[in-house]
Amino acid sequence: MSKPPSIRLDRLLANLGYGSRREVQAMAKRGRVRLDGEPIADIEARVTADAAFATRLTINGEPLDPLPGVVLMMNKPLGVTCSQREAGPLVYNLLPERWRFRDPAISSVGRLDKETSGLLLLTDDGDFLHKVISPRRHVAKRYVATLDRPLRGDEAAIFASGALMLEGEDKPLLPAALEALAPREAALTIMEGRYHQVRRMFAAVGNHVTALRRASMGGLQLPDDLAPGDYRPLDEAGRAAVLGD
Ligand code: URA
Repeated sequence: MSKPPSIRLDRLLANLGYGSRREVQAMAKRGRVRLDGEPIADIEARVTADAAFATRLTINGEPLDPLPGVVLMMNKPLGVTCSQREAGPLVYNLLPERWRFRDPAISSVGRLDKETSGLLLLTDDGDFLHKVISPRRHVAKRYVATLDRPLRGDEAAIFASGALMLEGEDKPLLPAALEALAPREAALTIMEGRYHQVRRMFAAVGNHVTALRRASMGGLQLPDDLAPGDYRPLDEAGRAAVLGD
């Protein structure tokens, strides 16, 4: 982790979406910004934006929002989208409204389809995001698919071959691992993230995905106690697990 930056407190709070610097200064004047329980004396003072400092600060009586550099893991529910380009509510609508005004902005680490549920990471850490989606890193993504028809039996070999070509593409897929869980249910682990990849892979072997959930990314599993629509910050160990560091 890089050293936490020293930053003016009014700038930090404005960057976290609490308001313009002027609004944040007005909040401080009204005693809404407190350090160790006491109204902050100098909202323009430079502070070290680290976890130790953050735990001492309250805004309107509430703990400070996650500092810049946050990674969230979400259990994405069905029916919400990761992109403005698709119709429907966005995953960002599941986060507190104020977080939409953060700078740097929080964005999803890759995308899941509107009708895919499960593990989704969100971050404002561009470096982490690029590492996870980098084709060179080959972060494994494990999906559980419910299928329209029973598995034929030859899918695992076809997916593992490294020769499967998806319709409209000119580069074969990297080898992927299929594990049959039931006649109509399979876990598929892929190392890349092409458009609608899992659904198109099953379509390529004459099947149809009726439900899809992402169960893990790298060594990070979706926790059982994270309900659909819920999210929580990922700690250092969780981030390292995703990247296999
Ligand atoms: N593959 C798909 O088809 N959809 C997803 O959302 C993710 C992987």
